[in-house]
Amino acid sequence: MKQMDAQWWKKTVCYEIYPSSFQDTNGDGVGDLKGITSRLDYLASLGVGCIWLTPVYASPMKDNGYDVSDFYKINPLYGTMEDMENLIAEADKRNIKIVMDLVFNHVSEENAWFQESKKSKENPKSDWFIWRDTPNNWRGIFGGSAWKWCEERKQYYLHTFGDFQPDLNWENPEVRKALYDVANFWIQKGVGGFRLDAVVYIKKPQDFADGKPDASDGMVLIHEMTANRDGILDYLHEFKKNVLDGKNIFTVGEANGILPEQLKDWVGSEGVFDMLFEFNHLQGGDIWYNPIVLSTLDVKNAIFQSQKATALNGWYPVFFENHDKPRSVNAYFSKAADKALASKALTTLLLTLRGTPFVYEGEEIGMTNVDWDSIEAYHELNSRSQYEMALQEGFSHEQAIGFVKALSRDNARTPMQWDSSPNAGFTTGKPWIPLNENFKQLNVALQEENANSPLAYYRRLVNLRKQSPVLLNGNFLPLLADDPQIFAFRREFEGKALTVLVNLSESEAHYDSSILSGQKLLLSNRNDASVGILRPLEANLFE
Ligand code: NOJ
Repeated sequence: MKQMDAQWWKKTVCYEIYPSSFQDTNGDGVGDLKGITSRLDYLASLGVGCIWLTPVYASPMKDNGYDVSDFYKINPLYGTMEDMENLIAEADKRNIKIVMDLVFNHVSEENAWFQESKKSKENPKSDWFIWRDTPNNWRGIFGGSAWKWCEERKQYYLHTFGDFQPDLNWENPEVRKALYDVANFWIQKGVGGFRLDAVVYIKKPQDFADGKPDASDGMVLIHEMTANRDGILDYLHEFKKNVLDGKNIFTVGEANGILPEQLKDWVGSEGVFDMLFEFNHLQGGDIWYNPIVLSTLDVKNAIFQSQKATALNGWYPVFFENHDKPRSVNAYFSKAADKALASKALTTLLLTLRGTPFVYEGEEIGMTNVDWDSIEAYHELNSRSQYEMALQEGFSHEQAIGFVKALSRDNARTPMQWDSSPNAGFTTGKPWIPLNENFKQLNVALQEENANSPLAYYRRLVNLRKQSPVLLNGNFLPLLADDPQIFAFRREFEGKALTVLVNLSESEAHYDSSILSGQKLLLSNRNDASVGILRPLEANLFE
């Protein structure tokens, strides 16, 4: 393994891969590890120094790998342990680190730990999970009660997500030790870091009291009751001590609901992780029939807050997409918006804000949402339960499917669009999920040939970032904070400055050019850039 700087992850780009949908090599219609290895040169050409792999462990795949049946085995759909070792080694040759997803809040019902625990109250693993004689009124994140009856044990078990994903009992030191052993096993294999799934939910309030209902079903969304509870940081510091201390391992936690002012307890030298994914700037939220809709000003405020907070503590993962969210060119813009320009506008922010950019597969070419009219077309379980919940609340099919179209996780899970050949070069077999129909017009190969494409623009910016001490190290100064259209800021480092202006609206915007203090245009996503005016979705960078 190559020696890396202690904070290598500050200077690179992380790329998230959803293995099922990236590249298939054996024709079974599901992406695999060999497929990822075959695309490493492409990833290196995007400036990627770190790949976050969503879970590749053995799993019945009811939640596409987030239901782990064995943390020590590779899912045969994706390949073998040898394929994994080969991927780590080949990535390492290109200075790319592999980051594994640690799903430590829950496991699959098929996991041997749960199989033991459910046998009886006398079993040695009896309290590795959370068992109760009577359920409370918590609703699982994928809908329905968060408790499931187990006939064998004659008790209910708690599940934050699907009823096939029993929550681990972090109160039990044996459970915590077993999880640290898993992480250390993968460090031994040579991985460079971890993303910690759903980590804010691991500590449950031990009174398991009912919450105030938030819908007509009389239930309350579980994470209103369990996110970031007192005592959670004690467990996480224990994790840090047993897994991370003394090793050059990068960590990012998935931390829905952590506020900027709480960041200091979570990241940086006093915290646990290097970075946290918070979701305050993302459209959508948890209840799709009552979605959070953020204006440009809201998005900007949320990001400004996080930039401010991470200037003091830790570091910021800049992201607009992941495997759980709709495509950003749909989420932040109208149906009519020019998606190529929109993609370049967001790419500008992604690669110039202070922090490490996280690119989700296909984002670099501006992949878009799907447009499926029937609920049967959707694969991922949350779409189905959100659809049912909307119907129960009295919405029509048209309305309910509208919510699903806007927020379904399948939007981001259609296969990577490599070229215009059948199945976009993703597989020679039948893809496990249909491709987005636009793949013949929107794919990597076409964009490689077009100097004006989102991909070409991405590469120009990534090269600029790589060579710019200001973009890599500079501080962040918000500009035009109250402007409802323009996202503007300056980065400064050792007497040099870059000013970034992005019109996130679909109409022309004007600004007072004195904010540029004589700086000259360095890069634009428009051919006709001029000072003081930003055309719809125009992004300009001044030096
Ligand atoms: C968050 C993951 O990103 C999502 O895909 C998964 O369904 C849940 N956690 C449960 O693990």
